[in-house]
Amino acid sequence: MKIVLLHGQKHHGSTWNTSQLLLKELITNQDTFREFYVNDIPYCVGCFTCILKDEENCPHRELIKEIIYSIEQADVIIIDSPNYCMGMTGQLKTFFDHMAYRWFSHRPLGNMQNKIGVTISTTAGMGAGSVTKQMEKQLFWWGLPRIYRLSAAVAAANWNDVKPETKQKIAKKSKSIANKIKRKHGHVKRGFRQRVIFKLMGNMQKAGLGTPKDLAYWKEQGWI
Ligand SMILES: Cc1cc2nc3c(=O)[nH]c(=O)nc-3n(C[C@H](O)[C@H](O)[C@H](O)COP(=O)(O)O)c2cc1C
Repeated sequence: MKIVLLHGQKHHGSTWNTSQLLLKELITNQDTFREFYVNDIPYCVGCFTCILKDEENCPHRELIKEIIYSIEQADVIIIDSPNYCMGMTGQLKTFFDHMAYRWFSHRPLGNMQNKIGVTISTTAGMGAGSVTKQMEKQLFWWGLPRIYRLSAAVAAANWNDVKPETKQKIAKKSKSIANKIKRKHGHVKRGFRQRVIFKLMGNMQKAGLGTPKDLAYWKEQGWI
């Protein structure tokens, strides 16, 4: 499997360590692995270039294209972020904004339907579950059919202060998700909701309600 991990934070805290527990269970010698930190990506300037013209002309393309290329090649996409004020980190959201052109409503990549996603978050008290859901929503709209969520309340500001029993619980959940990924790899397909959305978006393109760039793409793919 090709595995890519995007970190929504640069430091190696509870969230990063939770990702490591998953990787320990998931990666074998046969797998390839790449990881990226999204901290240095500038915020989207709202120029609409990716949506209306071409993603290659995005003013930040040079900084993000390697990450996007790796995502497009991967079988498993893992994304992590700590809970900051009941949301993902701002820097991760900034990365997601640069992927707007890949939503179903624009130019979804066909092979996303073969990929598995994992979203990971930790929090001191509450909110890690909703952060994993926010990240899951992004992956869903890119077209990933199967997304697992791994969240934990760690009651700590750093990994060293997390109780051993909490770490054990996280390790157990990680193992269960890694096993599911290994079983499902190569066997995932779009569920009912994504099939309906895909159909609706195709009808929207046919009705001329999208952009000319998106319409040409849907035709090129042979989807409409
Ligand atoms: C800016 C900031 C905002 C935070 N917001 C919340 C919050 O809303 N609720 C909460 O329970 N913990 C909150 N926390 C605590 C972290 O979510 C928690 O310590 C998490 O495990 C940190 O992960 P990390 O070690 O990977 O950075 C916040 C921490 C920071 C730095």
